[in-house]
Amino acid sequence: MSETHDTTGDAPYYERHIFFCLNERERGEDSCALHGAKEGFDHCKKRVKAEGLAGRGGVRVNKAGCLDRCAGGPVAVVYPEGVWYTFVDEQDIDEIVESHLKNGQPVERLKLAPDVGR
Ligand code: FES
Repeated sequence: MSETHDTTGDAPYYERHIFFCLNERERGEDSCALHGAKEGFDHCKKRVKAEGLAGRGGVRVNKAGCLDRCAGGPVAVVYPEGVWYTFVDEQDIDEIVESHLKNGQPVERLKLAPDVGR
């Protein structure tokens, strides 16, 4: 019987993965898309690439649908740590890229409060 997956290493394909909610809710309900989510996503992708972090063994920046924490929007979450962020501008994204995605230090001031939901 042969193995169907690679068992030669335990390293994850990406060291870190950040998901941005880009959802726009129907009927004009408040959502991340109305609060600069796309701009934050685009800027993050650009910065991660510019820092040479993108790709296997590095960082992946992905779009996501509603993450069900809309009240804190725009929101993004970083794995494997499972740290949730809310952000306002490009400087916030720069800090997340530099401190967390590059150096593994979560940005305390941008963390989403634990009780923020839909
Ligand atoms: S619309 Fe972004 S978390 Fe729901």
